[in-house]
Amino acid sequence: MIFIDSAVIDEVQQAIALGFVRGCTTNPALLAGVKEKPESVIKEIARIVPGPVFYQLTANSVSERDTEAHRFYSIAPDKIVLKIPATTENMALVTRLVPEIPCAATAVFSGYQTLLAIEAGCTYVIPYVNRATRLLGDGIKLVREMADVIKATGRPVEIVAASVKAPEEAAQALIAGAHHLTLPLAVISALGEHPLSEAAIEEFGRVIAGGC
Ligand code: G3P
Repeated sequence: MIFIDSAVIDEVQQAIALGFVRGCTTNPALLAGVKEKPESVIKEIARIVPGPVFYQLTANSVSERDTEAHRFYSIAPDKIVLKIPATTENMALVTRLVPEIPCAATAVFSGYQTLLAIEAGCTYVIPYVNRATRLLGDGIKLVREMADVIKATGRPVEIVAASVKAPEEAAQALIAGAHHLTLPLAVISALGEHPLSEAAIEEFGRVIAGGC
């Protein structure tokens, strides 16, 4: 599935109106960029979006994150997926949440964090593809390693590729084993663009105008 990575309601509406965008991911930075409170933004996104709505826990302590998890899950229990950075203490929290609440391990930068997220019971694992390329050298290789770990365990855990900055990177992430992509609106729009497609459309237009 393609998700939109945004907390801007107007962008989410535009993406969902396209018909092929099925869900929405948010993160603390995106939510900090809009003036409404996170609760009301998530509630509005859940009203607009047909599929999953990802909210990332931000509270300081594990027990506060536990409370925050239940508070946000109750906004739309049929749609909310909690994003939780892939630390050991957070994956311990996941084991307590998952019987009730679907969870995604986010900011995953290694195969071994993927293994931990799988064992903890996460439904999704989220690599930051472009960031991993910038910081580690090859974000696509990271996706491949995560996909290999999932395959080795045989569990039905799905990769949501995030921090994807260009259409080519989106395609490469899928080839490497990502199941889903979360993309900014600009990258979603760019998925249908190629200069040679434009040239072909113009060429057909000239033929039609020429009366063939
Ligand atoms: O949701 C997190 C992800 O999209 C991060 O992207 O651009 O900050 O690496 P970026």
